Amino acid sequence: MDSKIYSVHAGEILDSRGTPTIETTVVLDSGYRGTASMPAGASIGKYEAMELRDGDPKRYGGMGVLKAVNNVNTVIGLKLKNMDAENQGLIDKTMVDLDGTPNKSKLGANSILSVSLAVAVAAANHKRMPLYKYLNMLFGGSLPTSIERMPTPTFNVINGGKHGAGNLDFQEFHVVPATNKPYHEALEIGEEIYQSIKKILTYRNAVHSIGDEGGFAPNLFTNLDALEIVIEGIRQTPYKFGVDVFLGLDVAASYFKTDRGYQIKDRPLAFSTKEFIEYFRDLHAKYRLLLLEDPIEEDDWANWTEITKLLGADMLIVGDDLLATNPKRLEKAIAEKACSAILLKPNQIGTLSEFLAVVVVAKKHDMKTIVSHRSGETNDTFIADLAVAIQSSYVKFGAPARGERVAKYNRLLQIESEIFPQK
Ligand code: PGA
Ligand code: ZN
Repeated sequence: MDSKIYSVHAGEILDSRGTPTIETTVVLDSGYRGTASMPAGASIGKYEAMELRDGDPKRYGGMGVLKAVNNVNTVIGLKLKNMDAENQGLIDKTMVDLDGTPNKSKLGANSILSVSLAVAVAAANHKRMPLYKYLNMLFGGSLPTSIERMPTPTFNVINGGKHGAGNLDFQEFHVVPATNKPYHEALEIGEEIYQSIKKILTYRNAVHSIGDEGGFAPNLFTNLDALEIVIEGIRQTPYKFGVDVFLGLDVAASYFKTDRGYQIKDRPLAFSTKEFIEYFRDLHAKYRLLLLEDPIEEDDWANWTEITKLLGADMLIVGDDLLATNPKRLEKAIAEKACSAILLKPNQIGTLSEFLAVVVVAKKHDMKTIVSHRSGETNDTFIADLAVAIQSSYVKFGAPARGERVAKYNRLLQIESEIFPQK
């Protein structure tokens, strides 16, 4: 049986927003194959690797990915033919060198990552190993990690900002089950609270629509009202706020920072950065936030350090747009104590090997890890296996609803029942 690459083939499919994306299949000489498709962000950080879009207004409003598809089917595919799929490091390095730019803008991070992940799936299949075990073995080359627990899910139940058609400024309002809950129980908690919030919004006539990540996207008076609704939703279930379940926010603050400061609907006057940090301190006193993602815009390192100093002992200050799964930015954040957790998105960096290298650094510095989807997703479940493989503290896959989100939560159920059969 030979794990050499026989062919690499990509095509254009649609993601959960109906936007084109790339799907790639790698076939090995042994006949085993692997397929991966790419997610896409809407609130894309400035420091992410670049996804390649056609920009041809005659097709899908310029959002087509035929150039990226073509890059896989020609230049990347030819180069990788006959390489060993089990040598993930060399394959990824070959593609990085072939691209030659610091942010993968020549071939496109979407082309490169789709191949990188499809190679890993093909190699796992070739070795007849579950993907999470294969990825754990790859990761173990740098940081031996035994699989002992399932990640804790954090559920995005109300969508605002760039993801919601409603009027909220903050992008994501989360419920986070306690980390001591078995995964299947955590999923049940998230789902029951999601249904409970739906009833409350319906009763208040406030359901506007569903946001990109499956959470509700209501029109409300303030961002605080959304937190109140989540608390109310928890109260109407058997679960205790502050014991069984906690709250989290992805503020995605870069998106409403203006020259005047942080402008949100909760008050007419924009917040200065100092006032905004105090606002989160008060919010924490009232709502005991467990996760606070991107509370400060992505270039303001000094105030990230400030908020982490003030609130980091009590809650996780999570860098998403700040870090962009980028090793240089992560190292700066560690040196400056700018945050205490990292959001990990494979397509922010663009190859599996570079992704795993970022995780190694984060773990060596005791940063909590959150493996994350994007707001535009496919039914690909790679990140569920990946999260287990690296023993991520948390996963963020959206609401416990909508096909592309539950595909990942359901994959975790399968993995849980394999690892812990007598649950
Ligand atoms: P995105 O949002 O996928 O639209 O970038 C997700 C996030 O900000 O965490
Ligand atoms: Zn984010």
